[in-house]
Amino acid sequence: MKIELASSYGFCYGVKRAIRIAEEHPGSHTYGPLIHNKDEIARLKETYDIGLVEDFEEAEKVDSIVIRTHGIPKNELKKLKAEGKEVINATCPYVTTPQQIVEQMSKEGYSIVVFGDRNHPEIRGVVSYADDPRDAFVVLEESELEELPLKSKVAIVAQTTRKPADFLKIVNALVLRCKEVRVFNTICNATFENQDAAAELAKRADVMIVIGGKHSSNTKQLHSICKNYCDASYLVENEKELDPAWFEGKKLCGISAGASTPDWIVQNVIDRIESLTR
Ligand code: F3S
Repeated sequence: MKIELASSYGFCYGVKRAIRIAEEHPGSHTYGPLIHNKDEIARLKETYDIGLVEDFEEAEKVDSIVIRTHGIPKNELKKLKAEGKEVINATCPYVTTPQQIVEQMSKEGYSIVVFGDRNHPEIRGVVSYADDPRDAFVVLEESELEELPLKSKVAIVAQTTRKPADFLKIVNALVLRCKEVRVFNTICNATFENQDAAAELAKRADVMIVIGGKHSSNTKQLHSICKNYCDASYLVENEKELDPAWFEGKKLCGISAGASTPDWIVQNVIDRIESLTR
């Protein structure tokens, strides 16, 4: 059986960067998990003594704190710095951009629309950069725009992981309603590159293995895309979850991995599949 890796898979630029930054600060703590992968978090703990704090109260108790890729609210960042903590900012630059846009546009008197999930840490962070919280609105659907007390000039940004087509729907609705709309496309392509590559491979593969955390929405999405094209698509966290029966009589095994899956786990899975099918 042949094994083929998707042309794009695994860690995105922002996650690679955050892990490198954390590794450069052994003994520090990350504010929230750096990535949705417990094996990688365990490796960082074991090799670099990188701890984890889950909320702001806990973050205030440690000396050295790594801000994860999604970023944190502006007031929390300010407070941690004011308390004299060593704050190591690993916020992905693609997330810093919408934060800065929101800050600038709200200073210039624009209403701010953020297309995204209000409960996601990235969006809680981005919205917090508005000068006046009453001028910033988070929406997921066009219909939500109707009730909003928007000014005649509006700026819009998107959560980095949103679909461009959905973003355009909100933009269209805004253009019809407001005199001036400043559109900032803050969607990050990394997710779609992995998705497109997985779909292309799943179309040809007899069995598809998607590697990633079971709680990672990005991995689950990859798995469901693969399922559309290849019935025999399986999501595993690591090589221990592989079932030899999946590979019986198969010619091509495709492999993809979520944006939080490190290469060493991918390699372990490949090694194990090879040993099962030898
Ligand atoms: Fe950054 Fe895009 Fe990854 S926003 S954390 S490079 S998915």
